[in-house]
Amino acid sequence: MPDSVSEFLRLRQDADDALLLSLLADEPRDDTALFAAADAVRRHWYGDAVYLRGLIEFTNYCKNDCYYCGIRHGNRNAQRYRLTTDEILACAAEGYRLGYRTFVLQGGEDPYFTDERICEIVSALHRGYPDCAVTLSVGEKTRESYQAFFDAGARRYLLRHETADEAHYRQLHPDPMSLENRKRCLFDLREIGYQVGSGFMIGSPGQTPETLLADFRFLQELRPQMIGVGPYLTHPDTPFAGQPSGDLKRGLRIVAMLRLLFPNALIPATTAFGTVAPNGRELALRAGANVVMPNLSPVRVRKLYSLYENKICTGEEAAECRGCLERRIEAAGYRAVTAVGDAAAVPAAECPVTTA
Ligand code: SAM
Ligand code: FES
Repeated sequence: MPDSVSEFLRLRQDADDALLLSLLADEPRDDTALFAAADAVRRHWYGDAVYLRGLIEFTNYCKNDCYYCGIRHGNRNAQRYRLTTDEILACAAEGYRLGYRTFVLQGGEDPYFTDERICEIVSALHRGYPDCAVTLSVGEKTRESYQAFFDAGARRYLLRHETADEAHYRQLHPDPMSLENRKRCLFDLREIGYQVGSGFMIGSPGQTPETLLADFRFLQELRPQMIGVGPYLTHPDTPFAGQPSGDLKRGLRIVAMLRLLFPNALIPATTAFGTVAPNGRELALRAGANVVMPNLSPVRVRKLYSLYENKICTGEEAAECRGCLERRIEAAGYRAVTAVGDAAAVPAAECPVTTA
């Protein structure tokens, strides 16, 4: 049975600060009706489809030092790797064979991968697989760089804003990183014509209901096509070692709230959800998520892309991942779909999110 709060969020696709804060607070609450409402909304726009995106983690070198991240520059214990262009193309070939029609190239901010090298890889993917979408997730760049990647054929870009609260941003990132630049990147990407993905970790150190509220308000301003969230998970070789990881229940509630406020967004059931609980991704799907990102990276490097401890899916070959995820998606009551899968177009009056 829908409750009044879920119905209100479903119909209004918005709420005032007080209502959002009450949901974002840690108070115990039965979220059954919220999840049901979120599921009804996702089924309205996307049916039972869950889109698959083949993820290629191509470098774990990074010049940044985000305090939460296991591959931060300052982690001397991280064993570093880079994939060659041929290795990246081999991952894509295997992904194509498995039916994937979106490739997500993700990595740290690795100076070795100059704009020229990234453009070469994007062009090769674009030429080789014209029926596929190329998504980049390589961090903060200049507008000119983003334009060059777009001209080479990239059409989607994932860059979580991480937190929309200045003071919290400073708690999570040392200089010279800044929330201002992060936002500049996201708006540049949108203006260039990318389908943009943003988002944040749930339960990162220093996060409060107020910072989460700022995240929701920022997403309403940015109107990204994709929203990626997942529990913050501790890594022992970071300054946040010893801090508690994010909470599954709160994470699921936030996924449901995102689905109700951003009805046509593409929302992944992230690996972090699967790491925090064995059925975490299935629960995220039932709370409104509609994307999964199976790993296409070579097995020998999987464990090295260690953003946090106990990351799942580091031992399986791509084909095994595909089978495992398809079974999980079906068991949760949905259907794995390999189509390119853009965000659903919603008449502007009906929805705050529109496709690029
Ligand atoms: N360098 C790119 C960027 O900055 O967007 C992509 C790589 S970065 C590792 C991808 C995402 O991993 C980040 O946006 C962050 O939210 C997430 N992440 C990093 N460390 C994490 C942790 N300890 N727990 C959960 N998620 C984490
Ligand atoms: Fe750069 Fe994490 S600090 S990817």
